Amino acid sequence: MKCLQYALIGLAFCLGCLGIEACRGGQTQARPLTARYRLAGPLVPAATTMVTAWDVPDNPLDDSTLGHSPLSEQVRWGYQIFVNTPKEAARFTHGKMSCNNCHLNAGQRERSLPVVGLAGLFPEYNARAGRLISLTDRIVDCFMRSENGTGAIEDGDGPSAAGDTQDALPSPASKEVLAVAAYLTWLSKGYPVGKNPTWRGRNAIPPDKLIPVDKLDAHKGEGLYTERCTSCHGGDGQGVQIGDKKAGPLWGPDSWNEGAGAARVYTLAGIIRYTMPYLDPGSLTDEEAQQLAAFITSKPRSRYPFKTRDYVSASIPVDAVYYNARQ
Ligand code: HEC
Ligand code: HEC
Repeated sequence: MKCLQYALIGLAFCLGCLGIEACRGGQTQARPLTARYRLAGPLVPAATTMVTAWDVPDNPLDDSTLGHSPLSEQVRWGYQIFVNTPKEAARFTHGKMSCNNCHLNAGQRERSLPVVGLAGLFPEYNARAGRLISLTDRIVDCFMRSENGTGAIEDGDGPSAAGDTQDALPSPASKEVLAVAAYLTWLSKGYPVGKNPTWRGRNAIPPDKLIPVDKLDAHKGEGLYTERCTSCHGGDGQGVQIGDKKAGPLWGPDSWNEGAGAARVYTLAGIIRYTMPYLDPGSLTDEEAQQLAAFITSKPRSRYPFKTRDYVSASIPVDAVYYNARQ
């Protein structure tokens, strides 16, 4: 039990391996808390709450079967980037979001955009890009958009200032991107190639429940936000420290930028609907989640400078409000 506490505290504060290392001798797999609840396949169930916020069914820091090959070290670093992106991948993170903020439990939670078993599905056609994308392309997109990686350009600190295009922006060859790919590929071991896992794509509001974007009311959303969200996300949307957990900024310069999936009303509604409020996930209706998303996407966020390169061969989705308003 002591070992477990150390491991959790170590992970929570991302102090690295002190506590976890101490446990290595006695423990082979990081499945300590799962005795309290049943996993949903490989995932932490959607209905669990903040109590399980730090549970990671497959944690490479704690898996003694992983060994110490160069690849294993990258799997571990990829995991650390995933749970503490601003610290571990600082040059590509111009905000305060970690991958883990949206992909809860290190990407191993049901209905929270889980990333387990996905590696064998790439390359995959992507409508926004209008071409096949690889897993590393997908990760680059997350850095550029959800992590506001293009903030380098907006800050005047971009390719021209740095004089080195490859380093200023993430690319499929960046070491951080490859490390995250190593972690995601490790999470996909044993899953079939080319077959969608049953838990993929379950973060969407059902089509018959979608409310037209122009019928959504940001004021209604604001009312719900004040009632259900401010205790953790703050009136200013920037996140409140609760113990060792802090919700990410929902808008403003530290949040995801206008090009992110979460900047689309229905996509954001899907995240909120099944993961928030943290202590009672699933308690919002489809309508409430959409009103909340309308409010959050009515707020300013960092510009995405490459919007004109998106949706070139497809129409701009109706809920991509930052594109429709300003393109
Ligand atoms: C602001 C929330 C947010 C953050 C932060 C975020 N993502 Fe995502 N991610 C999404 C959303 C939403 C999707 C669904 C696809 C879309 O519409 O963009 C997604 C999709 C993905 C996918 C593809 C999943 C699938 O089923 O195809 C991968 C892989 C991924 N993200 C990895 C990452 C990594 C790695 C990071 C950190 C560098 C990250 N994400 C940060 C919101 C986020
Ligand atoms: C009990 C605290 C709590 C409440 C209440 C809560 N959240 Fe969160 N929320 C969090 C935490 C903590 C995270 C970050 C999760 C992580 O990093 O593991 C988060 C993450 C999010 C995210 C992902 C992106 C980000 O900025 O971190 C969204 C979107 C979000 N919450 C929306 C909402 C909405 C909308 C409500 C109200 C319906 C709400 N939350 C209520 C604690 C809370």
